[in-house]
Amino acid sequence: MKILVVCLGNICRSPLAEGLLKREAEKRGLDWEVASGGTAKYHIGKPPDPRSIAIAREHGLDISAQRSHHVTTADLTAYDLVLAMDRQNAQDLRARAETATDREKIHVFLEYAGVAAEFGTDVFDPYYDDEAYEGVYKTVENAAKGVADRLEAKE
Ligand code: 4NP
Repeated sequence: MKILVVCLGNICRSPLAEGLLKREAEKRGLDWEVASGGTAKYHIGKPPDPRSIAIAREHGLDISAQRSHHVTTADLTAYDLVLAMDRQNAQDLRARAETATDREKIHVFLEYAGVAAEFGTDVFDPYYDDEAYEGVYKTVENAAKGVADRLEAKE
């Protein structure tokens, strides 16, 4: 299973999602390949935001080696499942997909994880809110478990 998690800049939310999904897969012995990307080009090649690195580190997770990647149409073909951190990014990705098959791979992360009732539909964009990172971490951590539960149930 190849999973791509996507936000706008690929420096705040989706690096946490990549790290937490990888950790969840490792814990459960699931054979997943997980990567992340952004729909915007602002931060290509940069490490995650220092605030995301810090909140992950507080929870024993090292995401500092990740580098921001801009999502291409080819990525939508290469991955099996594409999870967008919010509805706007899901919409942007769907507009980029060239086939119905690729379009159908795109889901809103918290909806796919089955946690939208508890945490809302969109992962809050913390870029302009230093205080939001802990909440984002908890949301993404719960969603990573939800995604793993859903995919394990399918197997
Ligand atoms: P992300 O957060 O999409 O979670 O990585 C953002 C990062 C950068 C910007 C906005 C959101 N920006 O406007 O540069």
